[in-house]
Amino acid sequence: MKIVVLHGQMHKGSTYNITKLFLENLSGENTEIIEFFMPKDTPRFCIGCFSCFTKGEDKCPHADEVQPIVKEIDEADLIILESPCYIYGMSGQLKTFLDHLAYRWMVHRPHPKMFSKVGLVISTAAGAGSKKVTRSLKDNLFHWGVPRIYRYGINVGASSWETVKLEKKLMIEMEVKKLSRKIAKQIGKAKPGLKTKLMFLIMRMAQKANDWNPTDKNYWEKYGWLETDRPWS
Ligand SMILES: Cc1cc2nc3c(=O)[nH]c(=O)nc-3n(C[C@H](O)[C@H](O)[C@H](O)COP(=O)(O)O)c2cc1C
Repeated sequence: MKIVVLHGQMHKGSTYNITKLFLENLSGENTEIIEFFMPKDTPRFCIGCFSCFTKGEDKCPHADEVQPIVKEIDEADLIILESPCYIYGMSGQLKTFLDHLAYRWMVHRPHPKMFSKVGLVISTAAGAGSKKVTRSLKDNLFHWGVPRIYRYGINVGASSWETVKLEKKLMIEMEVKKLSRKIAKQIGKAKPGLKTKLMFLIMRMAQKANDWNPTDKNYWEKYGWLETDRPWS
């Protein structure tokens, strides 16, 4: 099993430590873990040139920084996105990376491999906002086509992992264990449910009518998705 982790920060605080707990619970003998840390691995800001949408992702001026990460995501069985809550949202550095993947949303060019993967999104906040972050991270994975996404958001009541109360840490450990068991059962078995299929079919209708972006339309045609083929079996 291959796991790719996009850390929304560089430091090893509460979000990182909880992510590590998940990795410990999910890893077996043959687990390969690839980690990216933002902003060390973050591309420069998206400049809004629309090249990825209209000319292709290789025409993005930051393709050299973005595509090596995308390649690892494509090969992963489990994709983990994590971020501390910063003013009710994900960290800017993770958002900067995710902006570069807008072309992968179902409305444009979702990758067929996404439709069998499992996702996990993690966030911590001091008092409020972790659920808001996991909701937004989950939205990204959903629109990439990932059919099974688990959320773990927790308000830790602290500004550092060291100051999180012991009872809270024990509760987190138990919850992480329980959720990891559920996640492990889905690896390699996830299939799109009604919501993903419905979204795909709505986007298919949009692509059928698409007379504004040949790059997207040719992509859907190439996979036969405008006919009867689908990115799931
Ligand atoms: C810039 C910044 C913004 C923050 N915004 C929020 C917030 O909106 N709500 C909240 O409860 N905590 C907020 N916090 C606190 C962190 O989300 C919280 O301490 C989190 O657990 C830190 O995770 P980390 O240890 O992985 O960095 C903020 C912290 C920073 C540095």
